[in-house]
Amino acid sequence: MSRKPIIAGNWKMNKVPAEAREFISQVELAIPSNNLVDAVIGAPAIFLEGMKKGLSKANSQLQVAAQNCHFEDAGAFTGENSPKTIAALGVEYVIIGHSERRDYFHETDEDINKKAHAIFRNDMTPIICCGESLETYESGQAVDFVGAQVSAALKGLSAEQVASLVIAYEPIWAIGTGKSATKDDAQNMCKAVRDVVARDFGQEVADKVRVQYGGSVNPANIAEYMACPDVDGALVGGASLEPASFLALLEAVK
Ligand code: 13P
Repeated sequence: MSRKPIIAGNWKMNKVPAEAREFISQVELAIPSNNLVDAVIGAPAIFLEGMKKGLSKANSQLQVAAQNCHFEDAGAFTGENSPKTIAALGVEYVIIGHSERRDYFHETDEDINKKAHAIFRNDMTPIICCGESLETYESGQAVDFVGAQVSAALKGLSAEQVASLVIAYEPIWAIGTGKSATKDDAQNMCKAVRDVVARDFGQEVADKVRVQYGGSVNPANIAEYMACPDVDGALVGGASLEPASFLALLEAVK
């Protein structure tokens, strides 16, 4: 089963508008049009419209993700962003369930599941994050913990929806620490994620779903993750901020 690799940058809460514009102008046309990899930037919501408008080609090779959305399409939710609004901007993906959202903003598995449904309802694709803490990793419970997160996030989705989405395995202890997972850990955990999808939705769906590794990925180490059979791409924070570094990540995917 060949799955198209997907490299997604997650800018988190970084950049001012001029920097976002500069990034687009340097990166968009430098991405080869051979379509070997899906290249995505997850930008703060306030940049999404400008990002989409700044892309010069309607079928640009650079796709855009929101970093979060609400699970309702409209209503009295001050400060939140509606998936309907995000979709109307032409945004392709929404990252949900990032450990920073779970830890700092108390998002639950149930919230994340509702968001996944909302994203599909609005014709976008979720990138669903999962990952364990250092304590859980060290106690040998990572597979069970992450499996439960994935199963809960996917509840009630159709097989077709699950086959089309992206799951990002990001061990919390590897995020922003420079302490990336070994390639064996990344492979084993991405395989474990795929096995949960197979158990809940069947092997055919599991063979299609794309699973990324995230956590201190950079141009120097991405090739070894991409060589793992169950790793279909990367979700990258720090190393996605500079145009040269983001392009180097894409270059490494052959
Ligand atoms: P870093 O690549 O900076 O470790 O961040 C990973 C991440 O959280 C991407 O969502």
